[in-house]
Amino acid sequence: AEDKANAGAIGAEGEGSGEGSGDLATEVARRRTFAVISHPDAGKSTLTEALALHARVINEAGAVHGKSGRKSTVSDWMEMEKARGISVSSTALQFTYRRGEDPVPSASGTEFDEDARAEANRAAAAAGAKAEPPNVINLVDTPGHADFSEDTYRVLTAVDAAVMLIDAAKGLEPQTLKLFRVCKQRGIPIITVVNKWDRPGQSPLELMDEISDEIGLVPTPLYMPVGIAGDYRGLLRRGEDGEPSEYIKFTRTAGGSTIAPETHYTPDAAASLEGEAWTTAVEESELLSAMGQDHDSELYLAGETSPVIFASAMLNFGVHQILDALVDLAPPPRARETVAETERDVTDEFSAVIFKVQAGMDAAHRDRLAFMRVVSGEFDRGMVVTHAQTGKPFATKYALTVFGRDRTTVETAYPGDVVGLVNATALAPGDTLYSGKKVQFKPIPQFAPEHFAVLRAKSLGQYKQFRKAVDQLAAEGVVQILRNDLRGEANPVMAAVGPMQFEVVTARMMAEFKIEVVVENLPYTIARGTDSESAAELGRQRGVEVFTRSDGELLALFGDKWRLAYIEKELDHLTIEPLVADA
Ligand code: G4P
Repeated sequence: AEDKANAGAIGAEGEGSGEGSGDLATEVARRRTFAVISHPDAGKSTLTEALALHARVINEAGAVHGKSGRKSTVSDWMEMEKARGISVSSTALQFTYRRGEDPVPSASGTEFDEDARAEANRAAAAAGAKAEPPNVINLVDTPGHADFSEDTYRVLTAVDAAVMLIDAAKGLEPQTLKLFRVCKQRGIPIITVVNKWDRPGQSPLELMDEISDEIGLVPTPLYMPVGIAGDYRGLLRRGEDGEPSEYIKFTRTAGGSTIAPETHYTPDAAASLEGEAWTTAVEESELLSAMGQDHDSELYLAGETSPVIFASAMLNFGVHQILDALVDLAPPPRARETVAETERDVTDEFSAVIFKVQAGMDAAHRDRLAFMRVVSGEFDRGMVVTHAQTGKPFATKYALTVFGRDRTTVETAYPGDVVGLVNATALAPGDTLYSGKKVQFKPIPQFAPEHFAVLRAKSLGQYKQFRKAVDQLAAEGVVQILRNDLRGEANPVMAAVGPMQFEVVTARMMAEFKIEVVVENLPYTIARGTDSESAAELGRQRGVEVFTRSDGELLALFGDKWRLAYIEKELDHLTIEPLVADA
């Protein structure tokens, strides 16, 4: 029972979703909607948990914290993933967070006790003081691991900011890079978190070089770690020109299961307390400043620089600093571009964009859940909105927040919030819902696929039905469909970002269309765009095949990057272009 209560507390309760101040501009201003982009194992689940731990202690009266509370969050999440085989669980986590005053550092150290802050907040609330409303943080999950798919990318069309989480020892890894490119292409500002600083890893400057050299993002640490990776003592807060403004020393708690207490010292006190480790941090900070690597709000919002925080999600070191950075630096929800090249402002009438659709995988349970991100206006459950793609009304009686096994009914939502809509059979990713003045948002781009397979109906007699089903799944964005004359209409090729999409197609073909299919993997791994002039010659090359995608785009598929590089070099008169998110 305790486990359930905890999961519920994190789900959607509290000041977050329901009881807003009612003032739209205030609701927008206090929201931060972000995703964590990372490679499996970098610590995304651990960080999510740590963020929830901080937020809960701060906001939930009588919240159970400590070991048991912490464990239940993780297990709920993972059990669900195991049971369903995909990460259906964790679409969006909403919580409130109150940015406290920073304590004034002193020579003998000023304690900063989160529990005390939570207590003070509770006391203020109990005294009836209509305090400043806290921030509302929406963390939208990016499915990873085996379920890395189009959805992982599409989530990034629903957020305003991203936290790039990297392992201190491993640095930038492939999945992080892929997600980074999508963020960059969409102009999503990035806060970098170097995780696992409690374990041996690279030096801070090595990591910073790797980020600027490999992806051209200029890292601008907000803090320098005091103590090398593996000996994490605390953080130097960087001030003007890299001068330290204070030292935040963390104290380890048993197993990192509770919030790590912080003590704030003056730089002088830090020097005598930490000696060499402090001096090194100061030197590193000044060196970065000499190279211009200081935080600049404009450059960060433009996606050119990235504030960096060194943390240990496991020990809860630096987690509070991540939340503060989100509140202080990350942008609130903004206007969104429409197909008419205008913008829907956040304070306009209600509108939302669908970024993910989940079809019930088992036949008995055919509910279709569509996730929308509110773009403008106030959403009230039960309102009848218009589906821009069909012009038809859509009733929103069944609106949910979904986290873990928890599905809580949403009554009200504001720009930046994520709402799940039940029985949303007509909705596909990229679709627009609105009320009042008509609006349609730009479609979500098709991302560069890396997995390819031929799809065939087992029985030839079902061809017409098969064709219809294929077209529907393609229209929904489950997979991209490629065709060419050689293979013919009966053998379309599915293309996807993640191979799990092929299983989704197989299951849905059976469950919804009663068609048994055969999937035959193809040995291609890279897709490039081409044009009709180049297509014929490209198609004659060994190890290359050219297709027309259902949106009319010409795609050339290559076995591997060496084959691609060879052909690009030998036949440099041909058009071979990276696809979206591939640049
Ligand atoms: P993911 O969601 O990004 O895949 O990563 P996850 O949080 O599951 O973390 C992957 C592993 O890294 C886990 O260890 C986790 O405990 C560990 N980890 C995460 N953050 C930190 C950190 O700040 N410091 C250290 N030292 N380890 C961290 P595991 O061995 O796979 O699981 P478990 O034995 O902890 O259950």
